[in-house]
Amino acid sequence: MRAAILITGGAGFIGTNFILNWLQASPCKVVNLDLLTYAGNPANLASLRGDPRHILIHGDICDAALVRSILAEHRPKAIVHFAAESHVDRSIHAPGSFLRTNVEGACVLLEQARIYWSCLEPSSRLDFRFVHISTDEVYGSLAPHHPPFTEASPYAPTSPYAASKAAADHFARAWHHTWGLPVVITNCSNNYGPFQFPEKLIPLMILNALQGKPLPVYGDGLQVRDWLYVDDHCSAIRAVLSHGRPGEAYNVGARSERANIDVVAAICDLVDEMAPRAAAAGPRRKLIAHVNDRPGHDRRYALDTSKIVRELGWKPSVAFEDGLRKTVRWYLDHPAWIENVCTGAYREWLEQNYAARPDA
Ligand code: NAD
Ligand code: DAU
Repeated sequence: MRAAILITGGAGFIGTNFILNWLQASPCKVVNLDLLTYAGNPANLASLRGDPRHILIHGDICDAALVRSILAEHRPKAIVHFAAESHVDRSIHAPGSFLRTNVEGACVLLEQARIYWSCLEPSSRLDFRFVHISTDEVYGSLAPHHPPFTEASPYAPTSPYAASKAAADHFARAWHHTWGLPVVITNCSNNYGPFQFPEKLIPLMILNALQGKPLPVYGDGLQVRDWLYVDDHCSAIRAVLSHGRPGEAYNVGARSERANIDVVAAICDLVDEMAPRAAAAGPRRKLIAHVNDRPGHDRRYALDTSKIVRELGWKPSVAFEDGLRKTVRWYLDHPAWIENVCTGAYREWLEQNYAARPDA
């Protein structure tokens, strides 16, 4: 039988990119367990229709019986756990689903993985990996001149989203420490690229700029994020899967810190260049509108990635300016995808999140 890996959340942004990248290079089957929430889009994987290497299972990671049966049937050699509620603003509006999916769901997966792994024959048990995909937000917020977070930095999450991811990381470590489950954790910075749902900064700004709508920058816009092109995140996960040491965590980032306002200005300029509009309408930068800040907004994230560079030989390959250009191009080239995700529920979310944020 062909070897398999189990991916959770593979119809979301990073999971989709990971599966498409993985199947370009590997004959290994991908079993994709995804609840297809608003963020999960099976159309992302339409190019794999008919490919026996990809199996999409519509289901919930909190469903222990389902997870057990998937493991028993497909006998994966690894699990890469992406599935999560991932948007900070939504975690402020409605934290309940973050607790359920990000914490309870992670525990269900860890426990079912442990039961499955403990019954494997010794050589398969040695090779098995559970890669838990986490975030830099677990470390909290950095002041402008503080050194970047290392894997030894204390956890200090501030938003409900970050708290739920931090809790899941602790559970993942506990399953390794208590039972020896070969868990490896990745803590990654902000991703961007194709297939990202337009609730997040970069795709939201691209779409609004294209449509001539206001570009809502929270507060002063001087918050800093480290932007990693999604393909580079995928290559880091593959490196961790192959060579990451069980029980360890690896920071993954681009060392590409940018203030939000600079990211938005760069998007405006690219959209002006690639989708010019009538001179009378003026440059897209005129659409920038400072709005009320996100409550508890983290000021800066930055990661020291020397561990993954040193131990696994991984480094990012896409410069921010190139990645951003490719990303704008992708959204320009995929109007049907945009139409498909901009549903009534999406418009309701925009109303809920932005109506309460008049210009600051
Ligand atoms: P996303 O919101 O685009 O996708 C999440 C996917 O999980 C969706 O396909 C959704 O349907 C699925 N899902 C949600 N609840 C589920 C459940 N109960 N059972 C099964 N599937 C469920 O998220 P993303 O941006 O692709 O992030 C993927 C992972 O990477 C998350 O764990 C996130 O915390 C982490 N991460 C994201 C970033 C980023 O910048 N996007 C950075 C670092 C880490
Ligand atoms: O750091 C990794 C994290 O990055 C991931 O773990 C999360 O899943 C992912 O959503 C992302 O979190 P952020 O909150 O940093 O991403 P977001 O795209 O929502 O916002 C990026 C920055 O832009 C942040 O400082 C808030 C700001 N912002 C965002 C939106 C949606 C705005 O100024 N205006 C907006 O409309």
